[in-house]
Amino acid sequence: MVLIVSLPDASEDPCFGPFPISTSVAISAKIVTIIPESENRLPSKSRSVVAIYPGSFDPITNGHLDLIERGSRLFDRLIVSVLRNETKAPPLFSASERMEMLREVLQDYPNVEVDSFAGLLVDYAAARSATVLLRGIRAISDYEYELQMALMNRRLQPKLETVFLLPNEAYSFISSRLVKEVFALGGNISPLVPASVEARLQRRLSKPKRKGA
Ligand code: PNS
Repeated sequence: MVLIVSLPDASEDPCFGPFPISTSVAISAKIVTIIPESENRLPSKSRSVVAIYPGSFDPITNGHLDLIERGSRLFDRLIVSVLRNETKAPPLFSASERMEMLREVLQDYPNVEVDSFAGLLVDYAAARSATVLLRGIRAISDYEYELQMALMNRRLQPKLETVFLLPNEAYSFISSRLVKEVFALGGNISPLVPASVEARLQRRLSKPKRKGA
């Protein structure tokens, strides 16, 4: 428990003399607030903040990159983590390919690490001692999905905070799904993804289909 006391002003109290504070001052101090111990624990400034940016990243786009850049400036350490147990449509790139692509474009960020995870995100965050989940909101259409996830994660682990950042509006229409679709149909995706990702898409999608595939 912490007591916050107010000492009388020299002009108000005739007993107030030059320092050191006299016993009479200490006795005439009045208690203003009592803060329970649990509410008094301010986050320690010396502890570094580890954030996780989870996602499918199939593949990474310039929108993801923009968010990583912002996150790397906000947090002491940012772990960009690829979801391995994909339950949606099978990904175009394997988890290790997606991690390779991320590493290729993130080598100049010393406080950014690339990793992967499976299972519950909150369990992974605890294992990595992360206190923040980073997610991007491009447009209002992302909000409902993100809100549901953030509130579910909060229910599962109340101490884990989800922080939302807005990517540059120039990237607000980019998604991995659309990038793949536009590329497969012959559209230009150069301004939307890093050059190394475009090269990989080129290699992957120009591969001749196997017989019967
Ligand atoms: O890039 P995505 O596909 O929008 O990322 C979704 C992701 C990976 C953040 C989400 O599917 C996830 O966290 N999956 C892990 C499983 C989990 O913890 N599910 C409950 C979260 S509410």
